[in-house]
Amino acid sequence: RAEPLVLGIETSCDETGIGIVRGRTLLSNTIASSMDEHARYGGVVPEVAARAHLEALQPSIEAALAESGVALADLDAVAVTSGPGLAGALMVGVGAAKALAVSLEKPLYAVNHLVGHIAADILDDQAPPLEYPTVALLVSGGHTSLLLVRDLTTDVELLGETMDDAAGEAFDKVARLLGLPYPGGPEIDRAAASGDNTAIPFPRGLSRASDMAGHRYDFSFSGLKTAVARWVELREAAGEQVPIADVAASFREAVVDVLVTKALAACRDYGVPRLLLGGGVIANRRLREVALERAAAEGVTVRIPPLSLCTDNGAMIAALTSELIMAGRAPSTLEFGADSTLPV
Ligand code: KG4
Ligand code: ZN
Repeated sequence: RAEPLVLGIETSCDETGIGIVRGRTLLSNTIASSMDEHARYGGVVPEVAARAHLEALQPSIEAALAESGVALADLDAVAVTSGPGLAGALMVGVGAAKALAVSLEKPLYAVNHLVGHIAADILDDQAPPLEYPTVALLVSGGHTSLLLVRDLTTDVELLGETMDDAAGEAFDKVARLLGLPYPGGPEIDRAAASGDNTAIPFPRGLSRASDMAGHRYDFSFSGLKTAVARWVELREAAGEQVPIADVAASFREAVVDVLVTKALAACRDYGVPRLLLGGGVIANRRLREVALERAAAEGVTVRIPPLSLCTDNGAMIAALTSELIMAGRAPSTLEFGADSTLPV
């Protein structure tokens, strides 16, 4: 079967991503982020993100076409993230994708953002092909999800997700209460480098035996955030200096511990010796380190795509669509809309 030429549009959060792939080959991956505009609010503001997508889409599409040397007329399909994500932000991408597909008379594919993250791995030309089944842990500022992937195009099962804050969101909120700038993940990572990760025993959300019965693969980070806030407040009230490095290292260890423990529990439960990591939080050095170390001890192989493919991008949406087309999937009809809670 011929390798389809696909343009993918991603606008589910604060990145306007346009990607072009041919089959499993990455031709361009243009990302415009509105992160700077959200910095003073300490988190992504949906209205601001939607407006930024509207402004960035046209120039981003042009840049992606120029970078790849592809002409719109040559595309085999247009692909777009229809959910999950921020409703207003998604709507901008969906509208643009429909307009493009209709005007070019090309097939249009609406795809799931989380499954797109898994597909990013296919574009990693340094790694051997992805094998199934695999467990996938996707951690970003917008989602924290654990999935069982038996087949990328036909069988992706959501095992668990966060009940409150996403892991990246927890990093951002804790950074804020420590007086560190947004986005907080890299800042905490930096501050933690000189800290003791055993200094403060912060709680591991949903990890007690009782939780493991009903929420074995689910996550919760809001209790951890509150515990950090309380710990810091008590020190400040007592007039003591807050040991930022130790707090950052202990907080990071709590997040990493829960993420890796639950991902490896899924590998063990389902007898799957493969773990795929994705999402912007994968940039965390400690998370990579602990995941690789503990997985190796259990005979689990860890795959981590390059960071430019781990964070939100359009290439992963195009890559997933290319797989769907090669698997014979029919395009979407134009009735679909943005769905902020779209299931996998
Ligand atoms: O996938 P991503 O780029 O996009 C969105 O979620 O929109 O992820 C961004 C998130 C932010 O919450 C950021 O604080 C977090 O990933 N992050 C990190 C690190 N680098 C980015 N979290 C922990 N450690 C890091 N080194
Ligand atoms: Zn994402």
